[in-house]
Amino acid sequence: MNPWRLVYRSPRPEDEGLREALCTLGNGYFATRGAAAEAVADGVRYPGSYISGCYDRAASSVGGHPVDNEDLVNVPNWLPLTFRAGREDWLAGGDPRLTEERVELDMLRGVLERVFRVRHHGGATTLVRQRRLVSMSDPHLAALEVSLLPENWDGELTVLSALDGGVANSGVARYRTLPGRHLRSLGSGGRTPEELWLRTATRASDVGIALAARTRVSRGAAPGSAAVRARGDWIGCELRLPAVLGQAVTLEKTVALHTSRDHAAGSPLSAARTSLARADSFDTLLRCHAAAWRRLWQRCSVDIDDQEDQRILRLHLFHILQTLSPHTADLDVGVPARGLHGEAYRGHVFWDELFVLPFLNLRFPETARGLLRYRWRRLPEARAAARAQGLRGAAFPWQSATTGREETQRWHLNPRSGRWLVDNSRLQRHVNIAVAYNVWQHYQATGDTRFLTDFGAELLLEAARTLADLAVYDHRLRRYVIRGVMGPDEYHDAYPGRDLPGVDDNAYTNVMTVWVLRRVPEVLDALPGPARRDLRERLDLSRAETDRFARMTRRMRVPFHDGVISQFAGYENLAELDWAGYRAAYGDIRRLDRILEAEGDTCNRYRAGKQADVLMLMYLLSEEELTATLHGLGYESDSALLARTVDYYLARTAHGSTLSSVVHAWVLARADRRASWRFLRDALRSDIDDVQRGTTAEGIHLGAMAGTVDLVTRCYTGLTIRDGRLCLDPVLPEEFGFLAFPLRFRGHWNVRLRFRAGGTEIGVPPSRLPPVPVRVRGQTVEAVPGMPVRLAAR
Ligand code: BGC
Repeated sequence: MNPWRLVYRSPRPEDEGLREALCTLGNGYFATRGAAAEAVADGVRYPGSYISGCYDRAASSVGGHPVDNEDLVNVPNWLPLTFRAGREDWLAGGDPRLTEERVELDMLRGVLERVFRVRHHGGATTLVRQRRLVSMSDPHLAALEVSLLPENWDGELTVLSALDGGVANSGVARYRTLPGRHLRSLGSGGRTPEELWLRTATRASDVGIALAARTRVSRGAAPGSAAVRARGDWIGCELRLPAVLGQAVTLEKTVALHTSRDHAAGSPLSAARTSLARADSFDTLLRCHAAAWRRLWQRCSVDIDDQEDQRILRLHLFHILQTLSPHTADLDVGVPARGLHGEAYRGHVFWDELFVLPFLNLRFPETARGLLRYRWRRLPEARAAARAQGLRGAAFPWQSATTGREETQRWHLNPRSGRWLVDNSRLQRHVNIAVAYNVWQHYQATGDTRFLTDFGAELLLEAARTLADLAVYDHRLRRYVIRGVMGPDEYHDAYPGRDLPGVDDNAYTNVMTVWVLRRVPEVLDALPGPARRDLRERLDLSRAETDRFARMTRRMRVPFHDGVISQFAGYENLAELDWAGYRAAYGDIRRLDRILEAEGDTCNRYRAGKQADVLMLMYLLSEEELTATLHGLGYESDSALLARTVDYYLARTAHGSTLSSVVHAWVLARADRRASWRFLRDALRSDIDDVQRGTTAEGIHLGAMAGTVDLVTRCYTGLTIRDGRLCLDPVLPEEFGFLAFPLRFRGHWNVRLRFRAGGTEIGVPPSRLPPVPVRVRGQTVEAVPGMPVRLAAR
């Protein structure tokens, strides 16, 4: 098994969607699913392409209620390329003549290879080889190379190569009843296969999109006659070529893609035509593209000894980079929860950046900074949302897309019962916590005061203010309380029998609000004096307001019951679920919400969660930090309380989100290595095995992918950055004989860390920068550039 490759042999139709999602190629600017070049959307195959941040809105109605959805747009398909022998039918998606197919994703170079044999009528066969790339060196280019070998016949081959703008968003069955046509055609043109173009624009957001394509014979045959055909939003060319037994003919299709959102570009069409005119041959494009990938891998590889896990970690890194690459840094985009790989969750941005930014901070800080800027640019919208609710600061929406307004659907479908249900998930106010937490972590990891001064501090303070304003003082309890929210566990959106949605005093929201408020004086202190005064004045942040913050850090309510932290106030009044009974009846009960609703029941009645909620506290905070925060609030807390809390919720979680395994693996890493390892393996298998049965086909789970990499590199090594020092406290799973990875630390690129049972090695590349202070289990050393340090395990 080659740990750089994913191989599929003769895929079955039911696995096609999964394979397409996992074989997506992208470069952080746009991505294209790994659908066959001859395929159209037909219920089995789905050739979707998505441009980062390109959304469009459409209005419709659900059960008589008006709804308004913003979708990541499926843009024109650049792939179409098919052929025929003589006068037979064009080879089509799922064609029975196509046999012995083998698809290989080469993650090292970012190339999708495909080989198959076509059995024509009368026993003639043609061997077809294809290679595809979406360029990591020039984010506007993609290319497909096709070689056709007539194995036992002579005659004529005709190749059809096209650009197809007649596409719609129809990749997710649940959304198909809603409008999915987001493109309007603005025409096409070109007179020869050397240059065809297609122009479209999104209907409501009016993003102009242009593609230009060149199809030419590169090896093996003199080009024959060619004809261009156009109809509506489709343009293509037919190339007739002599087919000679035993002689392969190779064609290459090169495509340039631009939008009106691009920087330093004229019209999308002129930009696309210029890019295409400058594009080199497939071989040269491939060389530059592979070199760009090599540079990326040098910055973020994670090496372990188990080959299968190694391959999955690479798959995860590969898809993270294809969604969020250095090309993304300069775009105005957030972290799409399902990558650029499908249409689930409409390409929206949730809180998942909490799981992704720690990875980027230590390898691609510019990209992380760009993603935080996406939030900063949406402060006006978030401020307006806060104001509309009578709150100060900025209320970030649970789901965000172009403008940063709330994009969470009001109704969602339970496919099991066929009912449309009220969606209260917008009550997850903890998205503000994710934004603030990420600002602080980015600053800790990079020491970048300019980031804090330019926009990080403003973002954190505004998020903090709204969190604080959500809290009210309860005179009876003599504590601050936060009512009517949802925690990360989406299976609890109300109390049974209560009309108002939301729960009170969700421990995660309350404790993390306190954590954020505790950062406020630290953030202000970190700013240069004039910048601090400037910001306080601009935000009208008074002493009285910060004093209130400080009081909250001493008097916020955290509920407890039965010797554990309660997920929310009154959790102990809920019934216990018959877990064994439901498992026996349904097998897979990850989507317990759907099962219970279809039975006319609701998760709200039970102590049964979708994903880690209270335990998120232990995912984000070290034991010392969490204990200090609880002590500051006047609550008793010790390791025993935290251990009991882990056990309690572990027994009551359905793991209906792929994020859940990542969090559980993390919180168990030190207490129960075996259990942690099992959860890590679950998280590793989330997408490659599509453990949620059908969800990966609609898009990868980017948070879980990044979470696994972060788990291996930060959690198992105890890696933190404190006071400018790199601190390590490795507890590798027994299954890891060895772990090595590079990271970026302050000005140093590619600081290499290697862990083995025998000890730890730190190599700082030669430079004139100061040494890296490293603390490993109480021992502090200076890692001097160019002089590796080895520390024996004790
Ligand atoms: C999870 C959320 C997550 C969202 C997008 C949901 O299933 O419950 O926590 O943000 O998926 O990944």
